[in-house]
Amino acid sequence: MRKLVAGNWKMNGLAADGVARARDLAARAKAKPPVSEIVLCPPATLLAPVAQAIADSGLALGGQDCHTEAAGAHTGDIGAPMLKDAGCVYVILGHSERRRDHQETDAVVRAKAATAVAAGLCAIVCVGETAAERASGRTEAIVVHQLRGSLPPKLNAATLVVAYEPVWAIGSGRTPTVDDVAAVHARIRAALHDLATQADAVRILYGGSVKPVNARELMAVANVDGLLVGGGSLSTEEFWAIASACD
Ligand code: PGA
Repeated sequence: MRKLVAGNWKMNGLAADGVARARDLAARAKAKPPVSEIVLCPPATLLAPVAQAIADSGLALGGQDCHTEAAGAHTGDIGAPMLKDAGCVYVILGHSERRRDHQETDAVVRAKAATAVAAGLCAIVCVGETAAERASGRTEAIVVHQLRGSLPPKLNAATLVVAYEPVWAIGSGRTPTVDDVAAVHARIRAALHDLATQADAVRILYGGSVKPVNARELMAVANVDGLLVGGGSLSTEEFWAIASACD
């Protein structure tokens, strides 16, 4: 299966730097198409100009969140059909920062995923344990529990990507060992056989302090079908090095 590398810009980027980065990445992708599929997830204010900057480059666009409902009286929120309309193919859902900052539960993430898929988007559903949960030996149980609660029934490889992101690894410079990543990804794969169709074709990304120095070894782990990159996606050089880890 083709690996997927997603750049999550989070709440970073103004028109000047964000669009310049998207243009630079688009030029690189046109000059030498990468082996992996690449998706940029800028803040909502930059979706339109980034869509324009990456047109015809082979790079894809993704949102960082959507509402549980498609449209309506929800000031400040963004609906999945709006993301689709802006050119998005993907939307990140249930990121640990959303779960923490906005008290998003598994049930909320599940409703968002259903709405996103109904709008024609592919949902990148994030799960991951805290440091305390890992220390108590409950990582796999926690991750499977989150997955069960967060996935609507019958998603498939075209509508679902799972991202395993240990909360303690995000932005910390710390990553699990490759053996730990392999164990959790294998457990997620097994769980997907109950939770999705075409489970073996659903891509499972690793995320949390992915950098050019560790991208290749993480990408080589069994059942790691790509990477979700935060801080490392804010530099063109770093992100391109990560995105090219399969080339
Ligand atoms: P990080 O973030 O790469 O900065 O650790 C990853 C993420 O939150 O998706």
